[in-house]
Amino acid sequence: MMMDVMTETTDRTLPDEIELEDEFVAHNYHPLPVVIAEAEGAWVTDVTGRRYLDCLAAYSAVNFGHCNPIVTAAAKEQLDRVTLVGRAFRSDRLGPFAAELCELAGKEMMLPMNTGAEAVESGIKVARKWGHEVKGIENPSIIVAAGNFHGRTISIVSFSDDPDARVGFGPYTPGFRTVRYGDVEAVRAACDETTVAVLVEPVQGEAGIIIPPDDYLPGLRALCDERQMLLICDEIQAGLARTGTTFASQHWGVEPDLYLLGKALGGGVVPVSAVVGNRDVLGVLRPGQHGSTFGGNPLGAAVGLSVVRMLADGSWQQRAAELGTVLGDALRGLIGQGVTAVRCIGLWAGIDIDPALATGREVSERLMERGILVKDTHGSTIRMAPPLVVTAEEITWAVNQLAEVLVDLRRG
Ligand SMILES: Cc1ncc(COP(=O)(O)O)c(C=O)c1O
Repeated sequence: MMMDVMTETTDRTLPDEIELEDEFVAHNYHPLPVVIAEAEGAWVTDVTGRRYLDCLAAYSAVNFGHCNPIVTAAAKEQLDRVTLVGRAFRSDRLGPFAAELCELAGKEMMLPMNTGAEAVESGIKVARKWGHEVKGIENPSIIVAAGNFHGRTISIVSFSDDPDARVGFGPYTPGFRTVRYGDVEAVRAACDETTVAVLVEPVQGEAGIIIPPDDYLPGLRALCDERQMLLICDEIQAGLARTGTTFASQHWGVEPDLYLLGKALGGGVVPVSAVVGNRDVLGVLRPGQHGSTFGGNPLGAAVGLSVVRMLADGSWQQRAAELGTVLGDALRGLIGQGVTAVRCIGLWAGIDIDPALATGREVSERLMERGILVKDTHGSTIRMAPPLVVTAEEITWAVNQLAEVLVDLRRG
């Protein structure tokens, strides 16, 4: 199978934009040397006219495809009406967005924010306030999982165990205890009278698509109920159809007290995030105690509403589940041929490359040369998370290209 990765190419080369970016943008990322100028659906086009199949989807923020027509129509319509009022006044978009998001999540209230890290920070603040007010705990503590990734703020990196994310950013925020991911008994052992919440990713994304044992989330739910603690699920990367269900925690029949949502909620257009929960928890916030100038803005709310409506009939979730089977089956066929392990849930895969063969970065660069964009995460693992508009044929082609890259690497 061949994919057309060339359009009308220009005689331009890439370096101009790369040089400008490297000179004027802080070096907090190490991007692949591709400069994207346009995108549609699952494909992006660089400034020379070369096309690439996007197998990262901006870390799940572009779940519904680049320039999804439903989302961009909602954004364009809103751009001509009103884009920002601040929460000092009301807008006609926030209420409907909130109501339909709550209906999707089966919850009573939502707190609108912008980025994922803000949603996580907000969830932590709500849990602490709830601990103070409802449980009467003076110094509430929260249990988190080893290998977590919840964002980049000071409090969040304070409980990261990734040295790149953490080292050099102290002093750190206290009040967190880290235990092994996937181990309910470790959480139980770490609980004491100060513990107000357990914060976990239902599937760890940045760690390499780590799928927990089946008893983990149900065990955490039972433990939180038993000890009157909040279960907070960070669904910022895993949620909103990526894994084949609206929320990844649904794979284990678990409903957390708070959902943390972001990324795809903004339809790949604007940052939209939210904490979603019931009144007995989110109701602890009163005017002046938390906020954001942009959180809940009419443009973001209009976009978020279009996303929530797209998710209402379950077809995106079903598509991710079906295509996920294609992706997982194809990838598992590479085990023993340069791949040591594959973890796949919905359209989201972590692929461990034999470290003796190549780093994840090397594989990503070679795939880029073949017209496929993926991202390494931690050493020799690469992650595939194409937009859910990708076709089965495109998935098969991408995995075949990976197979050929591995053959090339094995030849040396
Ligand atoms: C699980 C999870 N939580 C939170 C975040 C932070 O989101 P943002 O980069 O929008 O702040 C991320 C980002 O990758 C994430 O994967």
